[in-house]
Amino acid sequence: VNPGPLPSALEWEGGIPGTLLLLDQTLLPDEERRLRIDRVAPLIEAIQRLAVRGAPALGCAGAYGAVLAAQSLQGEPASSRLARLEESAARLAAARPTAVNLARGVERILVRARALSAAAGDPPGGWARELLDEARAFHREDEVTCRAIGRNGAALLSERPAILTHCNAGALATGGAGTALAVVYAARDSGRQVSVFANETRPLLQGARLTAWELQRAGIPVTLEVDAAAGALLASGRVDAVVVGADRIAANGDVANKIGTYPLAVLAREHGVPFYVAAPLTTIDATCPDGGAIPVEQRPPEEVLEAAGRRFAPPGVPAWNPAFDVTPARLVTALITEAGVVRAPDRAAIAALLAGRPAGGPAPLARQTPTSSG
Ligand code: MRU
Repeated sequence: VNPGPLPSALEWEGGIPGTLLLLDQTLLPDEERRLRIDRVAPLIEAIQRLAVRGAPALGCAGAYGAVLAAQSLQGEPASSRLARLEESAARLAAARPTAVNLARGVERILVRARALSAAAGDPPGGWARELLDEARAFHREDEVTCRAIGRNGAALLSERPAILTHCNAGALATGGAGTALAVVYAARDSGRQVSVFANETRPLLQGARLTAWELQRAGIPVTLEVDAAAGALLASGRVDAVVVGADRIAANGDVANKIGTYPLAVLAREHGVPFYVAAPLTTIDATCPDGGAIPVEQRPPEEVLEAAGRRFAPPGVPAWNPAFDVTPARLVTALITEAGVVRAPDRAAIAALLAGRPAGGPAPLARQTPTSSG
C-alpha cells in the first residue's frame, strides 16, 4: 500500500487579506469539498454544523477565526479595534462549549492582540499580519504535538496491535496527524502491523464517515462496527487496546469525549483491556476541578430521531442528545500526551504534567486484571 498524505482539516490561504479553507466534513466520505470562509459568522455556523470538528482542529479554527475578525477590522482606529476583536472572539469561542481547545485557540490570538495594542504603533507588516503569524504558529505546534503523541502512544503497543477507537480523533480532528489515530500512524510507521476497529459513533457517524475514510486512505486495515457491538468485540478478546481522543480533561483526570466513550471505558475495564486517552496538553483544563464541571453540549433531538434525512421515531417522542460524556479518571489506564505518558492519571499526576514533570513514561502494553471473568 502506498498511503497518500493525511487529509488536512483546515488551512489558511494567502496572507492578509486571506481565507480560511475548511474541508467540509459533513460531506465525507462522498465528497471532498473545501469551504472558503472569510468572516466569523459563517465560521461559527460551520463549527456548529460540524463542518470542522474535533478538539484540536477547533482550536486551530478558533485561532484563524480570530484572524478573520482582525483582518476585517484592519481599517478601524487602533483605539476601538481590540474591543471589537474581543467581541467577535467571545462569540467564536462560545460556538461549541465542550472542547476547551476552541477557546484556547481564540485566546492565543487575543493575548497577542492585547500585547500589540499595548505597544506604540502597529508592527511593520500590520496588526492582522502579526496575528496570522501567531495562528500559523499555533497550527504548526499542533502538528508537532500530534507527532509526539503518536510516538509516545505507539511505544505502548505490541507488535500486531488491534486498536478499538471511537469517533474520529485523526488528522480530520486536528491540525496534524491526530491524537488517537496519530498513535495508530506512528505504530504503522515504526513497523508494527496495526489494525483498527472503529465504532460507527451514532448519531453523526464520525467513526463510519470519517475514521473509516481516513484510515482506509492511509492504508490501515479498518473494520467498522455499531457502537453497541463494542461489548461483544471486547469480550471476544480481539482488541489489544482502546485508544480515544478527548475534548476536555479536568484537573482530576476525568475525560470528556464523544458520547459513547464512557461505556467503552467501562467495558474495557470489565474485559481487562487498556483504555488510553490520547490528547494534547491544550485539552487539559486545570480550571475544571472534575468532570462534573465540564459543560456538555446538547445537540438537536433531530440528530437522534432521524437518520439520512428520514424520521424513523414516532411523532411526539422526544430525544436526549448529549454530544459528549465524561469518563471518570479511574477508568483511564493512561493519558498519552506530547509531554509523556501518565499512567492512572489523577489530580497529582495532572498537576505534575502541567508543571512539566510528567510521571512515568512509555511501558509495554499489558493486559489488566478484569473486574470479572470476560
Ligand atoms: O463532535 P465532534 O465530532 O467534534 O467530537 C469529536 C470528539 O469527540 C473527538 O474524539 C475529540 O474531539 C478528540 S479529536 C482529536
